[in-house]
Amino acid sequence: MCGIVGYIGNKQAADIVVKGLKLLEYRGYDSAGVAVIDDSTVSINKRKGKVEDLLKMVDVSKIPGTLAMGHTRWATHGAPNDVNAHPHTDSTGNIALIHNGIIENYTVIKTELLNKGYTFKSETDSEVLAVFIGMIYEKVHDVEMAVRLALNEVEGTFGLVVISTHEPDKIIVARRGSPIVLGIGDGEYIVASDASAIVEYMKRVIYLNDDEMAILTREGYSTKTIKNETVNAEIHELELNIEQIRKGNFDHYMLKEIFEQPSTFKDSIRGRLLVEDGNVKLGGVGAVAEKLKNARRIIITACGTSWHSALVGEYMIEHLAQIPVEVEYASEFRYRNPVIYHDDVVIGISQSGETADTLAALREAKLKGATILGLVNVVGSTIARETDAGVYLHAGPEIGVASTKAFTSQLAVLSLLAMYLGRQRVLSMADGKTLATELAALPDKIQYILDRADQIKQISLAYTNATNFLYLGRGYNFPVALEGALKLKEISYIHAEGYPAAEMKHGPIALIDENMPVVFVATKDEIYDKVVSNLEEVRARGGRVIAIASEGDTNIARLAEHVIYIPNTLPQFTPVLAAIPMQLMAYYIAVQRGCDVDKPRNLAKSVTVE
Ligand code: AGP
Ligand code: GLU
Repeated sequence: MCGIVGYIGNKQAADIVVKGLKLLEYRGYDSAGVAVIDDSTVSINKRKGKVEDLLKMVDVSKIPGTLAMGHTRWATHGAPNDVNAHPHTDSTGNIALIHNGIIENYTVIKTELLNKGYTFKSETDSEVLAVFIGMIYEKVHDVEMAVRLALNEVEGTFGLVVISTHEPDKIIVARRGSPIVLGIGDGEYIVASDASAIVEYMKRVIYLNDDEMAILTREGYSTKTIKNETVNAEIHELELNIEQIRKGNFDHYMLKEIFEQPSTFKDSIRGRLLVEDGNVKLGGVGAVAEKLKNARRIIITACGTSWHSALVGEYMIEHLAQIPVEVEYASEFRYRNPVIYHDDVVIGISQSGETADTLAALREAKLKGATILGLVNVVGSTIARETDAGVYLHAGPEIGVASTKAFTSQLAVLSLLAMYLGRQRVLSMADGKTLATELAALPDKIQYILDRADQIKQISLAYTNATNFLYLGRGYNFPVALEGALKLKEISYIHAEGYPAAEMKHGPIALIDENMPVVFVATKDEIYDKVVSNLEEVRARGGRVIAIASEGDTNIARLAEHVIYIPNTLPQFTPVLAAIPMQLMAYYIAVQRGCDVDKPRNLAKSVTVE
């Protein structure tokens, strides 16, 4: 959910922490705070707003000390304000913590503490944990033990960093359900909720697993479970580099990531296409090849944009491999006691690999005996580590909250998976070759659209003041209509709905008037004529139509107010190309409306709470 950074070593700690928080701010950002320990005293500065707002209050990066931690919050308990911002302390002010996640039994713990005479400043669940740790410390006089004993009483999730003036040369870290990465240096360590805050300083990292802790001192580190069992944690080498997490010459990360798509799509298929055999090579699923071959049903579970790519995957896998596919919202799937057969394959799609609902849905499927796969972007993420097998997107870090390059890379990997499953069953070499050849041609076709971004910008700006939008498509283009609506909603705050184009007649067409822009994905395929009929129905009621159409289709220009042409491709791959104009439309409209495109209000990049 939000950003955690801690440092212990011999450098100016607060400077490293602030730089890290800025890199992680996309993860959650309604308030920010930093704690520094120097000469056994702790100073805490925190406030509502972004890191920049905190720095306007006080340049915390300059506070002296070689041990510090910082937090950017995405509120779950208590409004975004200065008091509810993290760090929080125990009643003595000598123990401070920052917390990602939700303490689900905080009201029970808070009641016990109130009955013992403890008081609270904030409305948060996190402060309850801080006071609880402090109360236990008063008995055991050992911060690590106090944290461990407290966490054994806690229900819910935490990514937690604790520092204390009692033991001013130590950082205590713990994790359950909210990612924590440890950067391993020489006599110095960084703890963060995402490796992008570490990569500038260290390349060796440890990913904590659920119910694990780490104790960091300048003399070394140790890892253990919260039950005090030693853990010999594996050290990984970060593949990330600092350039990947910088904006470069772009005004926003989102725009950079939109324009990266020719290369990121190429990276997603690199080394995986066997064009001559009309087949694909997916190293990450080798271990479950037989399970995939014998699967009688595939369930794909995800959230948000990843759920939209799952819908495209459903159409592709059923079309190419003739296996029944069900797509499930992870948040619904995990609680409705789903029927799972032992020969089911359940695929989780997640850019972050940390989405709480998707992770829980996969754990539920695994518990019921299914084979679980992860299609994720972040290497070493929890879903990547907990699934039986998987395929990395290789799209590079996606910083913009609105997912763009991850979406098209998910479609790339789903195309490869559909071909893989198809070639295990009914897909011929010739058809596989056709698909592989066209897949390899898509990066250039994406570039063709990006080269016409200015035209798309001019069209988009005509709709900056719209208050509602409809996005319509059929077949493969229905999911991309949903995706286009989500992009616009989440960064421009304009209400938008995606719909199957034919479904308009069953109610929503009542919404159509001259104030309703309607984006039609009307590319040439076997149901093109039906889509055109739906488009005519909208025009007949005064709707303003923006058509995303196939290059060379002059007919559509007669019907739509604006036409955005995309190159011809196979129906399965149209969503990859149709998504690009929609991403750009949402971006240009949001910028014109003065919205914070990379950090839209109320959102976070990785939803690690329920
Ligand atoms: C997409 O633009 C949104 N930021 C959001 O819907 C996102 O796709 C969703 O939270 C799932 O995230 P994940 O892919 O990291 O699991
Ligand atoms: N539950 C905590 C709070 O509301 C932490 C939320 C977060 O993950 O940022 O402050």
